Amino acid sequence: MRTPGEFEQRRELLREALTRERVDALVVVAPANVRYLSGFTGSNGALLITGDRELLFTDSRYKTQAAGETGCDVKITKGSLMDVAIKWAQRLKVARVGFERNRISYERHQELRKGRGTIRLKSLTGVVEGLRLVKSPVEIATIRAAVVLNSEALEQSLKRWKPGTTEIDLAAEIEFRMRRLGADGPSFETIVASGERSALPHARPTVGEIQRNQLLLIDMGATVAGYASDMTRTFAVGSLNAKAKRIYRAVWESQLAAVDAIRPGVTANAVDQAARRVLRQSGFDKLFIHSTGHGLGLEIHESPRVGKKVPQELEAGMVITVEPGVYVEGFGGVRIEDTVVVTPTSHEVLTPTSKELRAL
Ligand code: GLY
Ligand code: MN
Ligand code: MN
Repeated sequence: MRTPGEFEQRRELLREALTRERVDALVVVAPANVRYLSGFTGSNGALLITGDRELLFTDSRYKTQAAGETGCDVKITKGSLMDVAIKWAQRLKVARVGFERNRISYERHQELRKGRGTIRLKSLTGVVEGLRLVKSPVEIATIRAAVVLNSEALEQSLKRWKPGTTEIDLAAEIEFRMRRLGADGPSFETIVASGERSALPHARPTVGEIQRNQLLLIDMGATVAGYASDMTRTFAVGSLNAKAKRIYRAVWESQLAAVDAIRPGVTANAVDQAARRVLRQSGFDKLFIHSTGHGLGLEIHESPRVGKKVPQELEAGMVITVEPGVYVEGFGGVRIEDTVVVTPTSHEVLTPTSKELRAL
């Protein structure tokens, strides 16, 4: 899904950001940021972006791959890529070099503080992540493909569901279907949580059988060409009691209200509040114990977080999840999650899977 010029454009926007940050170059180490700026998908890479050079450092395992994936000047090296990148900055007579303080360890930071000859290092945070907030049409198309594939993997997996299936069996089937449909893999560990375990927002699937007449929560995401999708659906296995149905309806209405609030200029906090307001009406708001959603893209959790006190205004091209949930310990939980893109005047829900309560 690479368009000529996409990476070059990103690097030009980065250079403008670096001027605003008063540095002459940036050393990029976070894999998602390296990929965003260079196209390189390997696990070990660092980029040095100066005013007129773009160098990608990696090790010998990635020699052929790097040359094929990036238009940057590839340097195969050994040891700490960050050290090598900084040495190159010295060689190129760059005076002020920024580094990603939100992406390196404390130990690394201590080492950097020892100084680097004539180079002045400046700690920066979120510079590349800031560029990644608003997705390009190519990125949105890729996320859409990931979302559609994810929904298809769910449908295929549910066709193979039968009584006696364990949570782990179903999670494995889902991840197998994703791969068969062309995903890079799951974007996070698939959650399949039956009965009381659905009250754990991030449950790990167990060897326990999926129980009848209980809730079943599935939270799954596929990565396609590097981009994540994320969806949660909660099902009725057999029939549900009145309380479970009431919770389901409340979460569904809350999710719809939050989605409805999405448009450019609205704050992430306002979207979060829209979800909570509806749950307050049914008395379930105290059981909604996490944020309403998050941005996603090259990483499963990106800015903006859609939570309380997040003043970030939404802009066209941002892609976020909307995923309110209600969790009753010892009983069960319901979460409904879609991936949504902010459009110039409103929003579009990318997730095609129905939100009607479905009985399996
Ligand atoms: N599956 C992780 C999340 O929904 O954020
Ligand atoms: Mn999510
Ligand atoms: Mn999820």
